[in-house]
Formats: sequence, structure tokens, C-alpha cells
Amino acid sequence: MKDNLAYAGTEDPSDTPDTDSTLALLQAEFLLDLKQGLARQRKSISPKYFYDATGSALFDQICTLPEYYPTRTELAILQKHAREIALHLGPHAEILEFGAGSMHKVRMLLDAMDRPARYIPIDISGDHLNAAALKMADAYPNLEVEPLVADYTQDVVLPPDMPPQGRRVGFFPGSTLGNFEPLDALRFMRMCARTLQGGALILGADLVKSPDLLHAAYNDAQGVTADFNRNVLVRANRELGANFQLDQFAHSAFYNAPFQRIEMHLMSTCEQVVRVGGTSFAFAQGETLHTENSYKFTVDGLRQLAQRAGFTPGQVWTDPDNKFCLFWLDAPTPRSHE
Ligand code: AVI
Repeated sequence: MKDNLAYAGTEDPSDTPDTDSTLALLQAEFLLDLKQGLARQRKSISPKYFYDATGSALFDQICTLPEYYPTRTELAILQKHAREIALHLGPHAEILEFGAGSMHKVRMLLDAMDRPARYIPIDISGDHLNAAALKMADAYPNLEVEPLVADYTQDVVLPPDMPPQGRRVGFFPGSTLGNFEPLDALRFMRMCARTLQGGALILGADLVKSPDLLHAAYNDAQGVTADFNRNVLVRANRELGANFQLDQFAHSAFYNAPFQRIEMHLMSTCEQVVRVGGTSFAFAQGETLHTENSYKFTVDGLRQLAQRAGFTPGQVWTDPDNKFCLFWLDAPTPRSHE
């Protein structure tokens, strides 16, 4: 297994980031984002701050909850159609996974593929990525596994050598695209189209469905999603010395039908003042901190989005209840002068 840390956004391959200063930079960014978000008339913070080690573990737990259908449903689609998807991928293909996490889903593809050449999991969380990549290298001794520590929402710099015989195919499961705002989703898809030129993207997306099912998925009976939501405050207290009173913020998640999205908020249960980085922020009773949007899609909407990003939409695989879909999207062919 090769370590591609050097590709992660630095120009000079010998210039590997220093962990302490990277951490300090990330915390400075968190502080700035949170203060800016709390100063807005409608308070908000990016969902990317959910995912420290605790938040990632809580998300893994969410994926196993009876109410949270997306993970199970996507896995069932992958299992049922793996051979057909593998035929689309062809022999000796290379898979590039955006936001690789624990790398469970990609195994279904790899197991069905004809001599996969290389697997490039990309994730911002280096420790988690490298540990999971080592397991993959053990499980697939004939596969080149090259983890890439990078923010996959920015242009990623890939290893320069292309697979000699197969296609380069991106894999973006889990409907993570739904956590982007629509313009960011388009920007991300355009970046994918550029990165995957001549190849394709396999995109997993959660579909519009009954508000009751959606509501249950984000308001589970065990309260794991509520803990996941509140974890952003836990992080702010620990990392930034903020003083959020956790029991004075209630989890709130609901389907906003006109926007086709689940919104998650933390609602202040009383009038209160919170201090973050030396600044005070007042909350009225019932006022919320908007923590996440999770957009839901239609197959037609996805097709249009993909086309606007430069892809040619291909086959769609769904479950019998049309809860979730996997979309095959052909990336544009490289222009001759490139
Ligand atoms: C990661 N993402 C696709 C999840 C979602 O469903 O939007 C995050 C999540 N938020 C609450 N539950 C799960």
C-alpha cells in the first residue's frame, strides 16, 4: 500500500503537513465558521463539523438503526446488481472513492469486479483512512490500495499514472451529495467530471419519499441522531472552550417539502447567552442553530444535475420501493488538446 499524503493539496511532494499545525489550522477554521454562523440572523454551522472521532462513530451507529433506511437500502441495491455494475466497470478498472469512511460498500463492487487494478480512497480524516486502507490491502492482496488524504470537495490531485488497461471510475455512495447546498453539489459534480474524464461516476442518492419515513429516519427512537446533532456543541466546548449547555439544546429534524430536504437544527429550550472564543451570542427561546440539510432527489432531478455537470447519465438501479438509487454517469471524454 502506498501513502499518498503528499498529494493532499501540497505542491511539493516532500512537504508533508505537520499534524499539530494542521490541527491548529482546522480549529481556527472551526472557530471562525462557528462565530460567523452564530452571528447570522439565522444561526447555522456546516455539517462537516459533526465528524470528529465521536461524530463518525455516532454516524456509523446511525447507519445500523432500524429507522435509517438509506445505508441498508443502498447495500441491498449494490448486492443485487453488483455483477451488472461490475460489467459496466470492465476489467482492470480503478475505483476512486470520495469520502471513503470505513470502505464497506466498495467491497461489494470489488468482489464482483474482473481483476480490479487499484483502489484510491479519499478522505480528510487521515488516521481513519489509513487504518481502513490497511485492512483493505490485507483483504485484497492483488489490489493496489493508495489512500489519499485530501478534502475531496476541492480539486484532488490524483496519482499521475492512470490504470494502464482499465477505466477510472469514481464512487460516491451514501447520498452525501445531499448534504451539499445545490450550487455546491453542482460544483462538486463538475470537479468529478474533470477528475474522471474518460471514466465514470457511480453515485448513490436518497430519493424523495413519504415525509413520515423521512421524519423517522432523522428522529430515531434511541436518540442516536440527537446525540450526533449535539456532538457539534460537544466539540465546540472541548476544542474551542465554548460553554454550550447541552441540555438546553433540543434536537429538531423535519422534512421541508418545498426544498426537498430534511433540516436538522438544535433548538434553544430557553433564553440564554453562549460564549464562544471571547464573544457572546444570545439565543431566544425556540431559536435554532441550523446544523444540516439533507437534500432528497428525484431520478429526473439527478439526471439534469449530472448533465449540467458534463456527465452523460446511464443506467439507474433502485430498490423495489424506490427509496434510494445508484446512478451510472459517464464522464466526458478528454478534449484532444488536454
Ligand atoms: C452523511 N449523510 C448522507 C447523512 C444524511 O442522511 O444526510 C448524515 C446524517 N444526518 C443525520 N443522520 C444522518
